[in-house]
Amino acid sequence: MKKIQLEKAGVQCQLQFFKKTDEVIKPSLFFFLKKGDLILWDYENHSQYKLDEPYIDRLIEIASGKPIVEDDITRHLREEGLLVKEKEETREWGWDELSWIFHQGTKNPPRLESDANNWFEAYLQNCQSKPSPKEAPSSSKGEAISLAPIDKKLFQSKSLYEVCQERMTSRTFSGEKINFEVFSSLIGATFGYSSAPWGKNGNYEIYAKHKVSPSAGGLHPFEFYIMVHHVENIDPGIYKYDPQAHCLYPFEKGDFREQLIHSLAGQNFVKDLSFGVFFVADFSRVWWKYEHSRAYRQVLLDAGHQSQTCLLLATSLGLLTWPTGAIQDKEVEKLLKIENDKFSPIFFVGIGTGKPNSFNEEIISILKSNR
Ligand SMILES: Cc1cc2nc3c(=O)[nH]c(=O)nc-3n(C[C@H](O)[C@H](O)[C@H](O)COP(=O)(O)O)c2cc1C
Repeated sequence: MKKIQLEKAGVQCQLQFFKKTDEVIKPSLFFFLKKGDLILWDYENHSQYKLDEPYIDRLIEIASGKPIVEDDITRHLREEGLLVKEKEETREWGWDELSWIFHQGTKNPPRLESDANNWFEAYLQNCQSKPSPKEAPSSSKGEAISLAPIDKKLFQSKSLYEVCQERMTSRTFSGEKINFEVFSSLIGATFGYSSAPWGKNGNYEIYAKHKVSPSAGGLHPFEFYIMVHHVENIDPGIYKYDPQAHCLYPFEKGDFREQLIHSLAGQNFVKDLSFGVFFVADFSRVWWKYEHSRAYRQVLLDAGHQSQTCLLLATSLGLLTWPTGAIQDKEVEKLLKIENDKFSPIFFVGIGTGKPNSFNEEIISILKSNR
C-alpha cells in the first residue's frame, strides 16, 4: 500500500480506476470497514450496502477496466444504480474529496413529510417516536455566581440600524474591566431565554422556552463557556453559563490567556479581551430529532445566528467584538475538558474595550512592510 498526497478535487483528480468503458462504477461512492464488513456508501442516494466477496471481486474487476461480466451480480449493481453509463466529469470544486462527500451527502436528505396536506402530522409523529436527550449535568467546581438581572435600558442608546452600522470586527483591545451589570445584561440578553413568548396565539412555552436567536427545530444545541479576563466581581477563569438560573458556574479559575491564544491559532490580541465566549455544540441535542448529517449544517448556521446576536448586543452596549472560527479543536477541547465526541467547540466571540480598529499596531506594521 502506498500513501498518496492529498489532492484537491477537480478534473485533474478523477479517480484512475474509472476506466473508459461504456459503464463505470458510480463516482459518488465510498467504502469503509465496519465490524469486519466492507460497506459501500452511495452518499448521493443515502444508501449503504454490506458487500459480500463476489460483489467486492466484481467491483474490483470493473474498476480495473476488465470487460464487464453479465450475470446477476452485475444486474444487481446496475439495478441499484451503482453501475452507470460513463459521463464526462464536469464538477468544479476547489476543496478535497472530504468536503465534496459532505456537500453531496448532505444534499437532498430523505424527506419526512409525505405531502403538503399532512407535513405537520408527519413531523410531529416523527418527533414523538423518539426519546429526546437529557441536558448534560454541569461539572461545576464551586458556587454559582448569580448574574445581575438584565437591564434593558442599557441597550437603548442606539437604534438597531445604528448598531448594525457600527458593528465591526475589532483587533485592538485594551483589557479594561467590564462593569458587572453590563456583562450580566449582555450574557443574559444573548444566551438566556427571551421574555417574549413563542407567539401571541397560544401558550407554547410548555414545549420549550423561547430564546432570542433562532435555532433549527428550536433545539438550541449550544453550551456557552465564558473565558473571563477582566470582569468586575468575577475572578479570571473559565465559567459555564446556565440560562435557566442566569448564573455562571465556575469551571476552572485562573489566568488562561496563554492557552487561549494557542487555542485560537496564535491570534495574540485575544490576551487583551475583557472576556470571550466559546460556543460548544452538543450534537446529541440535534441528532435525536434530525438523524441525517444534514443537521450538522444547521448547527453551524445556529452558531452564526447566536454569534450575530451577541455581536450586535455587545455593540449596542458600546463594547468591541471579535468573532473567530479559527478554533484549534484539540487545544480547546483540552482547555474546556471536553472528552465526549458529541460536544464540539464551533465558534468563539471575544468582547472588550479598546479602539474600534480592524487592525492592531502589529498587523499594520506588517502590512506596511509588505507594500
Ligand atoms: C465565521 C467567521 C470566522 C471568522 N474568523 C476570524 C478569525 O479567525 N480571525 C479574525 O481576525 N477574524 C475572523 N472573523 C472576522 C472577519 O475577518 C470579519 O468579519 C471580516 O473581515 C469582515 O469585517 P467586519 O466584521 O469588520 O465587517 C471571522 C468572521 C466569521 C463570520
